[in-house]
Formats: sequence, C-alpha cells, structure tokens
Amino acid sequence: MSSFIPSSAVARVERHSLRPALGPAPAGVVSLAMGEPDFDTPGPVVAAAAAALRSGATHYVDQHGDPQLRSALADAVSALAGHRYQSQQILVTHGATAALASAIIAAVDPGDKVVIPEPCYSLYGDLVQLAGAVPVWVPPAPDLHWDLDALREAVPGAKLVIFSNPCNPTGVVHTRTELQALAEALHRTDTLVLSDEAYSAIVFQDDIFHSAVSLDELRPRTIYCQTFSKTYAMTGWRLGWLAGPTDLIAAAGRVHRTFNGSLNAAVQRAALVALDRGSVLAAPMVAAYRERRDMLFERLAGIPELTAQLPEGTFYAFARYSLPIQSTELAAQLRSAGVLIRPGAEYGPSGEGHLRFSFAADVPMLQQGLQRVAEYFADQR
Ligand SMILES: Cc1ncc(COP(=O)(O)O)c(C=O)c1O
Repeated sequence: MSSFIPSSAVARVERHSLRPALGPAPAGVVSLAMGEPDFDTPGPVVAAAAAALRSGATHYVDQHGDPQLRSALADAVSALAGHRYQSQQILVTHGATAALASAIIAAVDPGDKVVIPEPCYSLYGDLVQLAGAVPVWVPPAPDLHWDLDALREAVPGAKLVIFSNPCNPTGVVHTRTELQALAEALHRTDTLVLSDEAYSAIVFQDDIFHSAVSLDELRPRTIYCQTFSKTYAMTGWRLGWLAGPTDLIAAAGRVHRTFNGSLNAAVQRAALVALDRGSVLAAPMVAAYRERRDMLFERLAGIPELTAQLPEGTFYAFARYSLPIQSTELAAQLRSAGVLIRPGAEYGPSGEGHLRFSFAADVPMLQQGLQRVAEYFADQR
C-alpha cells in the first residue's frame, strides 16, 4: 500500500488549526495553562453516578438524551430565556465539544461563511474547517469586547456566528447592549447564532451576564450550547447539551447520534443531581475563583511588561505583554523558566502579543507560578 494520505477534511484542520497538542506539565513546572477546574466533582454527583450504576443504568439510552434529563434541561433553559422550551428542543451531547461539532456540521455547508469574533476558543475554527466552511475572524475592540462596527461589517451573508460568553480566553462577559447590537445586525437575515455559554456560572459580578436566549430578538436564531464541565467540575464526565429551534436540534441530533450513538446512561442520571443542586454545588468554587482572580490581577499589575483587564467571568486572564517576541516563543521561554502559560496566538490573529493565564489552580500554585513569571520579566529588563 502506498503511504496513507488523510482526507481533505483532516488536512484542512491540520493546516489551519491553532490548537496545540497538550500534554501534562513536566515535573517541577507549574501550570497556569489549565482549561479545567482544579476541583473534584462534588460528592453528591459522584454518589448519584455510583447509585445509578448499581441500579442498572448500564444500558443504551435514548440517543437524544435521557428523557428526564432532557426535560430538566428544557426547564433550565426556559427559566433562563423567560420562554418555554420543549424537550425536543434539547439535545444531550458528549460534552460541549460534541455539541459544538453537531451544531456546526448540522448548520453549515462547504463554502459557507462563518463569523467568529476573536480571540476565541480555538475549537470553533477547527470545526468550521472540518465542515469545509470559511471562518471570518473579527478582531475585538481595545477593551477585548466586540468591535461592533467590525462585527456589523462582517455578518452580511454569514450562515453562522459563533462566540463564547463569557469568553475563553479573554474573561470578557458580553453586555446586553453588545448582544442587542448583534441581533440588530442580523435582523431580516437567516444567519444563525451559536452561543457557547460554558462559563455562564463563573461570573464575578451580579447582573452582568445575559444569555443570548434571553433576548427575544436573538432567541429564534440561537443555538444555545452548555456543558456540565466547568460549572460542576465535571470535565471528565463528558456531558454537554444544546437547546434551540426544533428542526435545528433534530439535525444536530442526526449528526450527534451518527458519531456517538447513545450517551453514558449513569452520567446522565448523575447530571440530574448536579442540575438539582446547581448553585449550591457551584458557589464555593466560584467564590474560590473570585479570590484567585483578585490575587492574580494584583500580581499581574505589579509586572510592568504586562497589561491585563480584570476578568469579568471564566477562570482566565488575558494579558498583553510588551516584549518584542511572538507569544509562542514567549510561552516557550516561560516554560523554561518553570511555568506553563498559553500563548495568545492560539486564540486567533488578535491574540498575538498576549498570554492567557488560567486561575483554575490553587493559591500556592498560582503564587509560585506568578513568582516565576515576575522573575522572568525582571530578568529581561
Ligand atoms: C468556551 C468553551 N466551550 C466548550 C469547551 C468544551 O467543553 P467540554 O468539556 O464540555 O467539551 C471548552 C473547554 O475548554 C471551552 O472553553
């Protein structure tokens, strides 16, 4: 057999991907690069999964999701939207990763234009490439919120607009005015919106977060994407979901079951407990992130080469640096100095010149990592 040549879909993703292959932090190196909570899943959720397994939740289940969970998720998104969602408007997925993949593959055709404000979660670009569609990057305003003029200019003719709110990697929480401006820009078009709200529970100020589904003008065109990963520290459980117009959810369900078949039965039973205890389980973790955010921000402010804005949500801070080197090179040098930090270039063209600090690390680890960062920059003076 002659040497294997991957499909053009794989070749496209490989050619354009900004996503690095991630391994564990080498011994002795402090990681401020994590994309997941450092907390373990709350005990009641673990106990519910064990009980579900013992009671026989070991079989295939409905490929669109456990009916009771779908119904509970429909209630959850209805409360968020102030508008009734039915169970058939919910698709339970293998993490937000498969939710995003199913939605994108269900919605776009090869050659379609997909608008992606950046810096953004790097999976969006890869999935758009996988689908053969064309990403159109929209750079942010200086404060890392959307540049509304640039967004208005980019959206005509787009099949889909994708964003995360709160935003990984910038920590920005998009304002209601920004969401309204997007709705106005899309008025009288068929453009869809994919709103990835994975970090919606990790917000540091009351009343600043608004779901896209809470805007009457956006809801009919919005595919809402959510996950249990971040809110409940359940990254390894692999459970996410979509909510949206019935026909779109049916199409995403077709994609999802073609790739995945049924989801883990016991995990879905445990998810009901996570949902039910919701804010009680999440609150201590959010309180810890807030404390770490304040500490991180204070330390970054003491390093003259770095400029960061206070993250409004997520567990990331996105800092601009003043050294005349590429962010991948800077991240490599920091790694040699004993601290892992993600280069801004991973998140889109405007991410260059930035570093993404994760504060999903305990306080001693954060302190040690930041000490190494401060020493590295002091050595460059
Ligand atoms: C914005 C955003 N969306 C989705 C995901 C994927 O989450 P999941 O673990 O549910 O696949 C991540 C993970 O880092 C993320 O940051």
